[in-house]
Amino acid sequence: MKILVTGGTGYIGSHTCVQLIEKGWQPVIIDSLVNSKISVLDRIQQITGTRPTFIEGDVRNADLLQKVLTEHAIEAVIHFAGLKSVGESVNLPLKYYDNNVHGSVVLIQAMKQCHVKTLVFSSSATVYGDASEPPWNEQVPTAPTNPYGQSKLMVDQIMADVSISDAAWSMTSLRYFNPVGAHPSGLMGEDPQGVPNNLMPFLAQVAVGRREALQVFGNDYPTPDGTGVRDYIHVTDLASGHVAALGYAHGRSGHFIFNLGSGQGISVLQMHHAFSAACGRALPFVLSPRRPGDIAAYWADPEHAQRTFNWEAKKSIDDMCQDTWRWQSQNPNGYP
Ligand code: NAD
Ligand code: UFG
Repeated sequence: MKILVTGGTGYIGSHTCVQLIEKGWQPVIIDSLVNSKISVLDRIQQITGTRPTFIEGDVRNADLLQKVLTEHAIEAVIHFAGLKSVGESVNLPLKYYDNNVHGSVVLIQAMKQCHVKTLVFSSSATVYGDASEPPWNEQVPTAPTNPYGQSKLMVDQIMADVSISDAAWSMTSLRYFNPVGAHPSGLMGEDPQGVPNNLMPFLAQVAVGRREALQVFGNDYPTPDGTGVRDYIHVTDLASGHVAALGYAHGRSGHFIFNLGSGQGISVLQMHHAFSAACGRALPFVLSPRRPGDIAAYWADPEHAQRTFNWEAKKSIDDMCQDTWRWQSQNPNGYP
């Protein structure tokens, strides 16, 4: 199967391309490189022996999309391309709606034009409201609190509406919890530009000496150790979730929604402890005030994916930290 992978040189997309190739499928990547580097392709080739076809371009370019879908005889699309900084989305909402929502509409229109009707989309747990007790299943009411989350929910809704309008569509929204970790080879991983917003890449940069100390945002939450609790999922488990979801959805009609998480809640201090063990020294941290907009604790109920396409996250917190450390220590400044 030939699969168009938008955003395929990014963090989750690149790990998914590796597994698509290992499955015998052929990824064709389109990426604007706005948040990734072309050298990712060398790493995919080093790991798999295959260099995926790459087209530099923007998903908002309808003509380019139609050309790629047709010329490469694409059968399905996995749509990772998007912007993902919650804070930036609050300050620049139009940039987020244009890139994430308009970009998805252009993509779906081009797919319709070219009769490619299988789409798997990167949605997020951030679409859920925080009123429900964890674990969160797919029925938890949605209530995103920022433009980034809104943009994901809008695309989920567009996919639902389009699939109702035409039974030939197979639409799948995968709602990721917190993706972390790296390829076990140490060749691929997360490479944020500037100061990392997220816990794991920040810890990794403290470990290699690029940052002085981790700030723990709040230790007065109603959680066992007072710090925020999240559901961290290893990026290779997340990648295998895409392969499994696509295998299930291709040829089935409708809009499917699945949570992809481990089902386990881990605190900031537990993660700090595991990373310190992985890199062999107690990493410095300071207790800081809560980060505005954060919630205390949530994790996934991933049973729907397990029951439907027999997928579950297998890797432990120690695997996530060891693999991130291998990637970061071998590539202290990220991709060349
Ligand atoms: P990433 O930034 O590493 O990858 C996204 C890729 O898309 C980048 O390579 C970027 O250059 C490309 N891109 C962005 N806008 C584009 C456009 N208009 N046209 C073409 N290419 C474009 O991010 P990631 O962590 O791999 O996330 C992938 C997807 O998963 C995103 O849609 C993100 O919102 C979603 N997601 C991520 C997380 C997370 O915590 N990492 C959680 C939930 C959902
Ligand atoms: N944290 C710190 N210090 C840091 C960074 C984070 O203590 O330097 C804490 C946060 O307060 C939170 C936990 O670590 O308790 C996780 O924070 P992240 O920023 O790593 O992740 P979030 O859960 O805030 O959000 C992430 C992505 C969103 C996505 C969401 C999906 O950033 O885009 O997961 O559940 F939508």
